[in-house]
Amino acid sequence: MTGAPQADLVIVANRLPVDRVTQPDGAVSWRPSPGGLVTALEPVLRANDGAWIGWPGSADDDEFEPFEENGLSLIPVAMSAQEVEEFYEGFSNGTLWPLYHDVIAKPEFHREWWDSYVSVNQRFADRAAEVAAEGATVWVQDYQLQLVPQMLRARRPDLRIGFYLHIPFPPAELFSQLPWRRQILEGLLGADLIGFQLPGAAANFVRLVRSRVGHKTHRDTIYLPDGRPVKATAFPISIDTAGFEELARSEAVAERAAEIREALGNPRRIFLGVDRLDYTKGIYSRLRAFGELVRDGHLDVEDAVFVQVATPSRERVEQYRILRDEIEMLVGRINGDYGKIGNPAIHYLHNSYPREEMAAFYRAADIMVVTPFRDGMNLVAKEYVACRFEDDGALVLSEFAGAAQELRQAWLVNPYDIDGMKSALMDAFAAEKRETSRRMRAMRRTVVQNDVAKWAADFLRELEELPEHHDKTVRR
Ligand code: ADP
Ligand code: F6P
Repeated sequence: MTGAPQADLVIVANRLPVDRVTQPDGAVSWRPSPGGLVTALEPVLRANDGAWIGWPGSADDDEFEPFEENGLSLIPVAMSAQEVEEFYEGFSNGTLWPLYHDVIAKPEFHREWWDSYVSVNQRFADRAAEVAAEGATVWVQDYQLQLVPQMLRARRPDLRIGFYLHIPFPPAELFSQLPWRRQILEGLLGADLIGFQLPGAAANFVRLVRSRVGHKTHRDTIYLPDGRPVKATAFPISIDTAGFEELARSEAVAERAAEIREALGNPRRIFLGVDRLDYTKGIYSRLRAFGELVRDGHLDVEDAVFVQVATPSRERVEQYRILRDEIEMLVGRINGDYGKIGNPAIHYLHNSYPREEMAAFYRAADIMVVTPFRDGMNLVAKEYVACRFEDDGALVLSEFAGAAQELRQAWLVNPYDIDGMKSALMDAFAAEKRETSRRMRAMRRTVVQNDVAKWAADFLRELEELPEHHDKTVRR
């Protein structure tokens, strides 16, 4: 298939920024895809005028032509139902996702899943090879596509290839469980520049390449046998800070935030959780901590309410189904035991919302609770801070979120320590305005100075400035 314009900047990600939804009458519409990757990269593509290659989120669709949606140039890659099961739900989210998140759930290793991972990665690489203009920059994203850099370089050595991992990169002791560890490392080494959220992740990668592949390394640079250097370093991702702030300042969002508070009975304090419904996010533990505070009389449901917004995610993967049942049972139990007529302890919303509604939630909430067991960055924490333009509101944040390395003034917690979390929730609940303002002001400075435009510019500049390597023969 051809038909795509040649682009000087190509983003390659598992998902397109929009999902294709086919109505029962056959009509097709588009809705924003879930997750932090899309939130971060959409404004980058908009500002840089490139093309985005990705999966439109449905199975067995006929391959269709590149198209424009909301000003973005999008190039779809189709997947069969079997590939969705084996590549996406299987290897990406049943093997790599838990392995890269501290083995919070047990990763499964299946050879047929791996075979599917290889063939789908090849399809993405082939599409990128067709679409990239001579000497273009191709920026490959995330754990679903770790073989693409090597596959793409084999066809198009003229390209500058960057790779960015949005999730953690695990320590050698965990990564080494993977039967295909060497292939993954070699796949990534097809890139010129490999970006990670945190310096520790980059160091894990360099150490693994040295010990498992045997290449020479010096600090953040790996030297391949043919002399080509590969740089592996940290670029903490961020959000469109000004865009979120502008939204939060708007009249419509202010009104909606007031409506939300009113509908919740104007409690003294609103706690808020916003996550994809994922076992890495620590939703169960945080709700348990809140439930115990109500049970023990530290919080009263007329005074304090918890709103948990959970985006449906990976619903056919078994561990996600189990998680959903567990959380819904817990919410039911807490509300049944401690709620009052008109005052449930927890409001649980299993839905996706437009950005305006998310901004209204952030404006309405006094205490944002972000407690993942492990998270590459966590953009929700940064979005909350961006929306608090009056320097108020408290952030309770897990030490195990990448964001904790920047948002040091949050109430930092260990999500495995329920009592510690309870104390932090109470401290944030009782904090004086002066204290919350001091903390929020400092965090806002960080998020304003380090927005997603800076993240992308830093990465792309670094990629551009790397020395050229000799073999640039185009083999299409
Ligand atoms: P992840 O990438 O693991 O999903 P992040 O916190 O980094 O986690 O990013 C989540 C993104 O999804 C944020 O931009 C957040 O605003 C958005 N989001 C989360 N929940 C919802 C929801 N229910 N409706 C719409 N957007 C959501
Ligand atoms: O890094 C966050 C991320 O895992 C993305 O790679 C992914 O696209 C997003 O969250 C949402 O997950 P999914 O695409 O599986 O719905």
